[in-house]
Amino acid sequence: MMKKRVLVIGGSGYLGQHLLQSLSQIEDPALSFDIAFTHHSSPPPQPLLTAIPQALAFPLDLRSGHGLDSVSQAFGQPDVVVNCAALSVPRACETDPAAAMSINVPSALVKWLSSFRENNTLLIHLSTDQVYEGVKSFYKEEDETIPVNVYGKSKVAAEQFICTNCFNFAILRSSIIYGPQTISPVPKSLPIQWMDGVLGRGDSVEFFHDEFRCPVYVKDVVTIIKKLINVWISEGKQMQLFLNVGGPDRVSRVHMAEAVAHIRGYNTSLIKPVSASSIDRGVESPADISMDITKLMRTLDFSPTPFIDGVRATLAAAAGS
Ligand SMILES: NC(=O)c1ccc[n+]([C@@H]2O[C@H](COP(=O)([O-])OP(=O)(O)OC[C@H]3O[C@@H](n4cnc5c(N)ncnc54)[C@H](OP(=O)(O)O)[C@@H]3O)[C@@H](O)[C@H]2O)c1
Repeated sequence: MMKKRVLVIGGSGYLGQHLLQSLSQIEDPALSFDIAFTHHSSPPPQPLLTAIPQALAFPLDLRSGHGLDSVSQAFGQPDVVVNCAALSVPRACETDPAAAMSINVPSALVKWLSSFRENNTLLIHLSTDQVYEGVKSFYKEEDETIPVNVYGKSKVAAEQFICTNCFNFAILRSSIIYGPQTISPVPKSLPIQWMDGVLGRGDSVEFFHDEFRCPVYVKDVVTIIKKLINVWISEGKQMQLFLNVGGPDRVSRVHMAEAVAHIRGYNTSLIKPVSASSIDRGVESPADISMDITKLMRTLDFSPTPFIDGVRATLAAAAGS
C-alpha cells in the first residue's frame, strides 16, 4: 500500500523541526508517512537533513507560492499539510505589516491545494492565542477574536481565509510553545533556556507579573498534530476544527521564572516583578490570553503536560545536550 504523504511547511522552524523529528521516528511501517518539508531563508540545515534522511526538502516562499510546483512534481499531492511557517515575532510583524499579512495568510498555499483534482488534503494550520483581546481569563474558541497587534490581526485574517476557502482543516490557536532546542538550533531565543541563562548567571531580572498565558510543551503540540493527522488518515474523518492549544496552567512570566528557579535551585530574589505596562516593547501585547482547553482535551482525549513538568523536561534536555 502507498504510504500517506505529510508536508510540513516551515519545517526549518522551531515547531517544524520537532514535528519532523517525531514523524520520522514512527517505527511501524504501517503507521509511518512519506515526509517532505519546506524551508525559506537558507538551505535546509545539515543536522536536520542527517536526522531525517528520508524526508524531501523544498525551498518555498509563501508570499508568492514559488516552490509549490516542485513539491507537486517531486512529492505529489500531500494527504496532510501542517503549516508551521509564519512571521512569528510580533515586533517584526508590527514593523512590516505587509510582510506579516502576505506570509501569515497562506493564500498561495490554499490555492495550490485547491488545484488538485481531489481537493481533500487536511490542512493543519498554526494560529495563536494572540487572536484574543486579553481582557479576561480562559478564552474559549467561540469567544470573539479581537487582536491588539498586527501579528494577531494577520493570524485572524488567516483563520478567516482558511475557513472560507477550505473544508478539511484544523486551526490550532497555540499559546507560547516551550521545550528543548531543535536538532538544528533556531536563531530565536527560547523562553525557558533564556530564563535559565540569566538566572543562572546570578543576574537580577525584571519579569511581568500581570501578563497571563498557558504555555504549552512542544512535544504536546506535536502529539496533538499527530492525533489530528490520525483522525483524517486512519479514520477518514474530515474536520472544520478550531482548537485552543495550551497547557493546563495559567502563568505570568514571574511564575515561569519561579518554576525555573525552583527546579535549578536559583535564588528567587533575582526575579523582580514588574508590570508589563511599564515597558515599551514596540508592540501592543494582550494582558490575559489564558485559554480554556476543555475542547482540546475532549476532542483528542488528551491531557497536556503540567507547566512544572514540561520545564523540568526542558532543563533536563538542556543539561544532557
Ligand atoms: N513558538 C511559539 O511560541 C508560538 C506560539 C504561538 C503560535 N506560534 C505559531 O506556530 C507556528 C510555528 O512557530 P515557530 O516558533 O516554529 O516559528 P519559527 O521558528 O519562527 O519558524 C517559522 C518558519 O516559517 C518559515 N518562513 C518564514 N518566512 C517564510 C516565507 N516567506 N515563506 C515560507 N516560509 C517562511 C521559516 O523558514 P526559514 O527559517 O527557513 O526562513 C521557518 O521555517 C507559527 O505559525 C507561529 O506563529 C508559535
